Amino acid sequence: MSIPGSRATGLGDDFLPILGIDHVELWVGNAFQAAYFYQTALGFDVIAYAGPETGIRDRASYALRQGEITLVVTAGFAPDSPIVRHAAVHGDGVRDIALEVGDVDRAFAETTRRGATPVLEPATLEGQKGKVRRASIAAYGETIHSFVNRHDYRGAFLPGYHRVSDCPGQPTGVRALDHVVGNVELGQMDAWVAFYRDVMGFSQLVHFSDQAIKTEYSALMSKVMQNGTGRVKFPINEPASGKKKSQIQEFLDFYQTPGVQHLALLTDDIIGTVSEMRARGVRFLRVPSAYYGALGSRVGSIEEDLEAIRELGILVDRDDEGYLLQIFSKPIQDRPTVFLEVIQRRGAHGFGEGNFKALFEAIELEQAKRGNL
Ligand code: FE2
Repeated sequence: MSIPGSRATGLGDDFLPILGIDHVELWVGNAFQAAYFYQTALGFDVIAYAGPETGIRDRASYALRQGEITLVVTAGFAPDSPIVRHAAVHGDGVRDIALEVGDVDRAFAETTRRGATPVLEPATLEGQKGKVRRASIAAYGETIHSFVNRHDYRGAFLPGYHRVSDCPGQPTGVRALDHVVGNVELGQMDAWVAFYRDVMGFSQLVHFSDQAIKTEYSALMSKVMQNGTGRVKFPINEPASGKKKSQIQEFLDFYQTPGVQHLALLTDDIIGTVSEMRARGVRFLRVPSAYYGALGSRVGSIEEDLEAIRELGILVDRDDEGYLLQIFSKPIQDRPTVFLEVIQRRGAHGFGEGNFKALFEAIELEQAKRGNL
């Protein structure tokens, strides 16, 4: 697709009011087994299912929910299915970051008028529990943004899905999507920043240069875009040159195109959440133990038990407004592509800039094990 340029569009006028992230849909090789991971390891309830039993002939989808987070995992059946092809090219990955809006037709019209590539014209999905208006536009790589309005719908997820009530998860405490990060190719970050600014009406929150996010070997650049209400935050990364391969380039090599790098899941009790996930088999990155030696002098006193923080490998960062705690999982599929972050905020609105160096050293240890550094 072409990337729209940076036309002036009257910043400050929120032409795309977004109520929040409606859901994130992943296209995967085996939806049944992926749903089991999200349900069992991460504590999501399976709330709805669509497939042959519900009249959907070409795919199986499971909708999962915990707190305000709705994830969908979908697998296709036929070799020529776009879902099967997507999974073959990219491995399991995020297809759709769907946004809830009050007016789907206006969202589609305003964004396509500003240069967005249409993927799905506004359409109404009807079922026994009401109707949902939906449209989609293209974002980076093969990722899309759907606009969803569910004012007139009372079903479990979407028409075509049947409610599932016998497959609850044991919650791990994650309750909202804090941010969703995209990786794009070298030299493309600013074009996608312009896309979110000019086409989606977002503004730039913060910019991390390759000087800030750099280890001995590799580097990246990142800009954070957020919508008018601040509810939706999309950091965009691109690789920067170092002595060896940037972790962003490793992602691009294995995903084949730009795509979603990580989903950050917000919790109010990171020690409880991470303890539970770890016990259920979620694998997290470990920073070098020296990180904790310098922690007290870097972030000052915190409410959490430092011993538990160190034991679990949780990272801490402080800014003017408070501090945050975060941890990153290892990739959640075979390829070194998509991973998860668990984050707890105690006032801080940042993204853990102070942790980047320690974190990237940990990622590089893993990259080196894979022979990709
Ligand atoms: Fe993050």
